[in-house]
Amino acid sequence: MAEEIPEQVRERARELAASLGALSRAYYVDDDPTVSDAEYDRQFRALVDLEADYPGLVTADSPTQRVGAPPAEYFDSVEHAIPMLSLANCFDDDELAEFDRRAREGAGRDRLAYCAEPKFDGTALNLRYEDGVLVRATTRGDGLTGEDITANARTIRNLPLRLPAERPPGVIEIRGEVVLARSRFNELNARLEREGTKPFVNPRNAAAGSLRQLDSRVTATRPLAFMGYGIGQAVGIELPDSLHAQLQLLADWQFSISPYVDRVEGLAGCREYYDAMAARRAELDVEIDGCVFKVDDRASRDELGFVARAPRWAIARKFPAEETTTRLNAVEFQVGRTGALTPVAKLEPVFVGGVTVSNATLHNMDEIARKDVRVGDTVVVRRAGDVIPEVKEVAERGADAQPIALPSACPVCGSAVERVEGEAVARCTGGLVCAAQRRESLKHFASRNALDIEGLGDRQIEAFVAEGLLETPADVFGLHAHRAALVERDGYGEKSVANLLASIESAKDTTLERFIFALGIREVGQTMARDLAQHFATLDALRAEASAYLEREGQALAQHPDNKAARERLMTAEGLQAVPGVGSRVAHCIADFFTESRNLSVIDALIAVGVHWPVVDVDDTPQPLAGTTFVLTGSLETMTREQAGERLEALGARVTGSVSRKTDYVVAGESAGSKRDKAEKLGVAILDEPGLAALLAEHEGQGS
Ligand code: IVH
Repeated sequence: MAEEIPEQVRERARELAASLGALSRAYYVDDDPTVSDAEYDRQFRALVDLEADYPGLVTADSPTQRVGAPPAEYFDSVEHAIPMLSLANCFDDDELAEFDRRAREGAGRDRLAYCAEPKFDGTALNLRYEDGVLVRATTRGDGLTGEDITANARTIRNLPLRLPAERPPGVIEIRGEVVLARSRFNELNARLEREGTKPFVNPRNAAAGSLRQLDSRVTATRPLAFMGYGIGQAVGIELPDSLHAQLQLLADWQFSISPYVDRVEGLAGCREYYDAMAARRAELDVEIDGCVFKVDDRASRDELGFVARAPRWAIARKFPAEETTTRLNAVEFQVGRTGALTPVAKLEPVFVGGVTVSNATLHNMDEIARKDVRVGDTVVVRRAGDVIPEVKEVAERGADAQPIALPSACPVCGSAVERVEGEAVARCTGGLVCAAQRRESLKHFASRNALDIEGLGDRQIEAFVAEGLLETPADVFGLHAHRAALVERDGYGEKSVANLLASIESAKDTTLERFIFALGIREVGQTMARDLAQHFATLDALRAEASAYLEREGQALAQHPDNKAARERLMTAEGLQAVPGVGSRVAHCIADFFTESRNLSVIDALIAVGVHWPVVDVDDTPQPLAGTTFVLTGSLETMTREQAGERLEALGARVTGSVSRKTDYVVAGESAGSKRDKAEKLGVAILDEPGLAALLAEHEGQGS
């Protein structure tokens, strides 16, 4: 028996539904919330309560349906009114040109305009609206028949349950891609891990998996979004001829469409669009795996028609894959400047991210253990942007896969390999005896932030070391003795050799801070080199302190052989450890370096050949921020991060790159990411740009 629903109750329910619809759109589509979350919740509860009292009020398009329905046992199969086609792919410029040529020929046009769109990396969805109300949502399936996942689709917050149109068409199907933004994906995975559930491998799998949940209440907890890209069946409406205009219609109906859709002219327009999207790809929150170009005008599309399951009038120009699988053939250990051994995967060559990759990093032994990678496995290789390719995980265990062992001797010089308790890194103990360490030290020595020797890059150093022209840094300054041999080398001539020798000569004139950095002391980066130079002012003072430090360390060890904490108490805030950022471990590294005779002979030799620096002008202007450490992240509006850093340093602050418990402030500009999160986690103070400006203003006036 139908229940009686008073008209004012109906009216109230309609009002609430309309208001909630508008609020959702403002929040999820326009990204511009108009009321507080609490106000939304209040209206939502009011509608839930009304519908509980009068179940007859519940409609398919009620906002309350967004929270999901009781679990289904299976999904019904539904035949698509109009097949959901796929797209032909192309992977390079020539193939794109070929597509354009064929399309122009087929359409009988000299030039075609294209609707250009990002290709979303998610899962396709067809939304059927009858008289403006969402009645059915289906997956693509095999293109002819899909699955009815209406209850799940209703939980996607940015799609309208009812079209905001005065006179909606009798039938309109909106097609698009269900995606999960990268940021949301990370949050979701963090949550799943906290709950002890296996995380998803990538946003696409997460979107597809969430959409096909039998329990739509689970789907409702997944922050999915629908991005519209086309129209399926349409009855009772005259659609615009232009696909670009059709997308505009979708936007009018409150669907999210990509802000990057465009109408471009000819092949040149497509290429330009592709290049722009490829450049932007990394910064987009929604993953895309290419661009789609669709002939914009209807007459040409009709002329072109279809082949098999794909239209002749559209093509996907895919980005080079960033991840792929291949076989791990072997592991080699590379020796770095400080002797650190890095395991390098030797791969069956694969094309990934636009290049052929045959080597990838495995980082260190801990990572190998964590991922349980073995030689012979099929592994996932990832290469994103210009980062070093890495082995991400094992895709499939090899038939007779062999565990990877850390060698006990250095593969280059045969010295013992040492692994310090609690550290991930294993090191060759050979020091400058080891040819690999020598070569890497030389590269560092000549690099831009060290002695900055133009013309002496990694490639030249490798060649010179291999030919026996270089062994230690001091040899660089003896290269002029090999002038004749250098001129004879491939690719060299009088002029380039003269230039190289001149830049070597001028590199002798340096600063103490560059010199300290150039030595390549473990744990001493540019900032610390500067702090050491400022603190000790002369190299002799630093060398003297190094011996004194080791002496104190020895005494402390004698006094408290079994009590590390007591030893550390004895050692703090003196000498080396008075330098900002220098703890006992780093102090030990520095002291060790300056007491090692091999290193001292390198230093003496450099000074003997004429390397010199001006007396350090120890800054004794008031330094109100001395002893405070800052990390800058995100983008600032009124100045660059570099400028902000310089101004903070001028006030005595230290500016470093990574957030730790020792950081005093994190300055977080626009779209600050993980560093800000870490600061929050560690309870480090966060300054926004106005906060930074106030701090600078407060102190910069002083002392002048
Ligand atoms: S149009 C007739 N446009 O790619 C054209 N598809 O490989 C049919 N996709 O199943 C699709 N972004 O799931 C189109 N801007 C876009 C797209 C897009 C992603 C997906 C879609 C389709 C698959 C075809």
